[in-house]
This record gives sequence, structure tokens and C-alpha cells, in this order.
Amino acid sequence: MEGPDGSGKSTQIALIKEYLEQEGKDVIITREPGGNRISEAIREIILNKDYTEMSPVTEMMLYASARAQLIAEVVGPAIDAGKAVISDRFVDSSLVYQGMARGLGVDTVYEINKVAIGKYMPDVTFLLDLPAEVGISRKKDQKELDRMEMESLEFHKKVAEGYRSLADRFPDRIKTVDATLPIDEICGIIKASVKDILSSI
Ligand code: TYD
Repeated sequence: MEGPDGSGKSTQIALIKEYLEQEGKDVIITREPGGNRISEAIREIILNKDYTEMSPVTEMMLYASARAQLIAEVVGPAIDAGKAVISDRFVDSSLVYQGMARGLGVDTVYEINKVAIGKYMPDVTFLLDLPAEVGISRKKDQKELDRMEMESLEFHKKVAEGYRSLADRFPDRIKTVDATLPIDEICGIIKASVKDILSSI
């Protein structure tokens, strides 16, 4: 599940988990960056709002490191055991935030991440598409902002735009859903797509 900050990913993930379980799947949810001891420790460094001097390359590599550990320890073993994995953010976040919004380039960021991901690319990615202004104002209402959320509105606009261009580049894998729709409508669209995938497996 991908989308700008404040796009409602966690709500949808919980609903899709319920649906997959009704369909008899063993489901695990992971979140990035994080999801295990080492990746959570890396998360603390990445999102610490005192570390304003962090270089974009360091940031990219820390996200890739957190991802590598999550795949080695959690995602890989779960997929190998036949479980369904729903991830709150994955490599597309790096392609968009570090590759596009930070300007490192999508291809460079993908090359680095290929080492972390190996064969575990998602079957489908849902992009909860939302104007940057709406996402950030939702976040501000919820909690204190982290280092990434404190970035300028211009940065978050690049993120929202970046996601759209990534979805255009990978139309088979990335399904875009309008995140301004009511929660149950969004869930209905995602469920229909997941149902198609289940019937094709
Ligand atoms: P997020 O899921 O938004 O955490 P929370 O729900 O607690 O706010 O993710 C943290 C931030 O990290 C978010 O601003 C997006 C950013 N991010 C990247 O820049 N690159 C990445 O590869 C990932 C996974 C996240």
C-alpha cells in the first residue's frame, strides 16, 4: 500500500487484511521503515527530526537497509511459507521520495534496492492518490510531524506527482485509487482488484 503521508494507508490495510482472512489466507502486515528490531532502530535514525543534516544518499541507503532486514527476517520467510504479506509502503516509497522528490533518480534508487529486495517484488501495489495539501493537513491534525513530514509543501507536491508518474510507468503493477473517496468505496475498489488476483493464482 503506497501513497503520500496522510493518505489513509493503515485504515485500508486493516480492511484488506480482514478480507483476505475471510478468504482463508494467512496474512501478515508489515510497515516500512520498521517491522523488526533492527529496522525499527534504523527508523528512529531516519525520522529523527534533529538530523536535519542527513544527506539524500544516506537517507536512501538507510531506507534500503531497513528494507533489506525486513525482507530477510519477515517478508521473505512469510512469502516462502505461503502467507499473504501486506506492506505499509515498500520500494515505491524510495523511488518516489528519494528518487524523485530528493532528485537521486528512480533508476539509481531501484538499482540499490534490487539488492535488498531480490525476488520479493509485490504482486500488486495500491496507490492511494491524494493532493499533497490534504495529506499534510490530515497528518498535522493527528500528531507531531516527523523529519519527512516536516519537509516543505513543495516537497510533498513532488511526492504526490512522483507517485502518479510511477503509476504511469508501471501500469500493470500499480493500481491508483482516489484517496478522497469515502473509506468503504476505496476498500470496495481494492477488494475487487485483490479478488481478481486471488482468482488468477
Ligand atoms: P510513514 O509510513 O508515513 O510513517 P508514519 O505513518 O508513522 O508517519 O513513513 C515514514 C516516512 O518515511 C514517510 O514520510 C515516507 C518516508 N519514506 C521514504 O521517504 N522512503 C521510503 O523508502 C519509505 C519506506 C518511507
